[in-house]
Amino acid sequence: MIQKPKGTYDVYGYKGEQISYLENLMKSLMEKYHYQYVRTPLFESTELFHRGVGETTDIVSKETYDFKDRGDRNMTLRPEGTAGVVRSFIENKMYADPNQPIKTWYYGPMYRYERPQSGRFREFYQFGVEVFGGSDPLLDAEVISIPVNFYKLIGLKGIKVNINSLGDKESRDAYRTALKEYFKPYLNDLCEDCKNRFEKNPLRILDCKVDASKECMKHAPKMIDYLNETSKNHYEKVKEYLDLMCIPYHENPNLVRGLDYYTHTVFEVEADIKGFGSQNVLCGGGRYDHLVEQIGGPDTPGVGFALGLERLLSAIESEEIKLPIEEGIDAYLIPMSENEKSFCFYTMQVLRMNGFKVEMDDCNRALKGNFKQADRLDAKFVILVGEEEIDNEVLTIKNNKTKEEFKVDNEYLVNFLDEKLQDFEIDDHFEEECHTHDHESSM
Ligand code: HAM
Repeated sequence: MIQKPKGTYDVYGYKGEQISYLENLMKSLMEKYHYQYVRTPLFESTELFHRGVGETTDIVSKETYDFKDRGDRNMTLRPEGTAGVVRSFIENKMYADPNQPIKTWYYGPMYRYERPQSGRFREFYQFGVEVFGGSDPLLDAEVISIPVNFYKLIGLKGIKVNINSLGDKESRDAYRTALKEYFKPYLNDLCEDCKNRFEKNPLRILDCKVDASKECMKHAPKMIDYLNETSKNHYEKVKEYLDLMCIPYHENPNLVRGLDYYTHTVFEVEADIKGFGSQNVLCGGGRYDHLVEQIGGPDTPGVGFALGLERLLSAIESEEIKLPIEEGIDAYLIPMSENEKSFCFYTMQVLRMNGFKVEMDDCNRALKGNFKQADRLDAKFVILVGEEEIDNEVLTIKNNKTKEEFKVDNEYLVNFLDEKLQDFEIDDHFEEECHTHDHESSM
């Protein structure tokens, strides 16, 4: 049997409903933040990621899916969303739009040739935002608030926000020099990757998993001590805005992130959940004030983040959160014989177009089997259609919970269901309110 590629997964059943719920939630949250939806190709010129993500990053040096297309062009499946959105910002001259900053959001699959393990896939989905044309620290805080509020709406309690500042170019250069001076005598103790990083991007040494426990790592200079006044002020302002929004955070001076493009604020949200796997970083992002220029656009500041859908689903499972997925259907139509099937089919289309969730017997079940099916589908109403119903244009409708029976004129069917379903909505609404209240008290 042909199997799915390593590091990928299929979505079906309840997982599909969970994902669909989360996709709707991100969409409605982004509407409230007034961000515009953008979509870029799944593959881009290889050069974009070399310039955008950085040659020294693991992502570009070890993990990209590269291929030559039939025109002999070097292409790469996108390993992340930022570089593509920046390319699109430049190519579509969004910088010329008078309505700055440009606030965008996206959702889609990304590809990294990593060693698959729990929470780490070769095809995974990211929900992310990129904001261009604003350097106010307020925007950094707004971007951090998006995943935090998203997790809050879902009801996820065990999250920890880690932040750090990498400063502006001047601060980073000073820090880079200090790091090189510090690590020079330890160079032989460091792994091969770090020896490379020493020349090209010494900051990334701090991020190394192989060398993490070595003594020299513990006493390395801290970025925070090399921030100039502008960078310090920016960082302080971001923290003030986070405090204002009551978003708790933890300052982690070793947080450098695995991508080369960051300046000033970097952040990650960790799952602080007992028993959660080692891939516990739920999302990450930060400011990238030189990336647009680096990719060939005008000097434009930017800030953004991306969160992984798969790790979020694991966190939801670990915390045993039941998403308020609307299960069940409004009505189930039962034709008493083959003769009433067309009438039921037509009625089903009318009801669906009037906004009801409807199914009918499409397997020629016996009456008993049909009532069982209505229960399995959690139908609120069962509509029975026999010869008599069609002749008299009066339908027999059963409340599937109370078993109460109604005779309803065919032409009033939509009104009847509308009215009767409101009783159900009152019940649902009550449950929803309790649910929301639970979330509010959690933060
Ligand atoms: P990243 O930290 O590489 O950042 O990825 C963001 C999130 O994507 C991670 O925190 C994780 O949840 C998820 N993720 C990454 N790799 C995998 C994988 N192999 N399997 C499953 N989930 C994964 C970025 O991609 C930046 N573009 C974020 C950003 C946007 N920065 C500024 N704007």
